[in-house]
Amino acid sequence: MNIERLELFPTVVWCIDAPEQLADVWEQPLMTAIESKLLPAQLPEHHQTDSTLHTVPEIKKFVDWIKLTVQSQVNGLGWQVENLDISGMWATRLSFGATHPMHNHPNSWISGVYYPTQYPGHDGELMLHDPRPAASMFVPNKMPGASNRYLSNTFSFKSQKGRMILFPSYLWHGVHTIRSNSRWSMSFDILPKGMLGRSGVENRVIL
Ligand SMILES: [Fe+2]
Repeated sequence: MNIERLELFPTVVWCIDAPEQLADVWEQPLMTAIESKLLPAQLPEHHQTDSTLHTVPEIKKFVDWIKLTVQSQVNGLGWQVENLDISGMWATRLSFGATHPMHNHPNSWISGVYYPTQYPGHDGELMLHDPRPAASMFVPNKMPGASNRYLSNTFSFKSQKGRMILFPSYLWHGVHTIRSNSRWSMSFDILPKGMLGRSGVENRVIL
């Protein structure tokens, strides 16, 4: 008997921890940039900046690091893209009791979250959802103690200073309830620039 188990159509998610030294160097400039772009709070537990954080000159090295990191990872998958553009970057502070409902990021290719500073608890985990709604239509009982990626339709990442999580922008995601004082996160969307698709082919686009 020959059994070949294929794992098709994977969803690639990257969890990248910046070198501690870099995360330390970037922390203050990032928090200063965030302060400069802060919008009036809509809710006491929810503060946000506008979406132009990536244009602040003082954090250019951090922005370049994101672009280079994403570039190398998507090239590593085999995508021939040479020029990536951050179409928006914003920061959010969620305070005790706050959460962020499930959502995705339209008009974007790769999205990401970066945690610029430390806070107690590492809670407010980023929760990613299985992008295949049909996958949870039939859910038998699990074997005692069984826990693996085939048996779950969510995955959570602890948030910690210097951590960047990259994922396809179509992926539904949200934030677990904040149980510590407050938590800053920076989010961004990335698009490839230039011609997508081959010249002479109908479904090509120039961004
Ligand atoms: Fe998001």
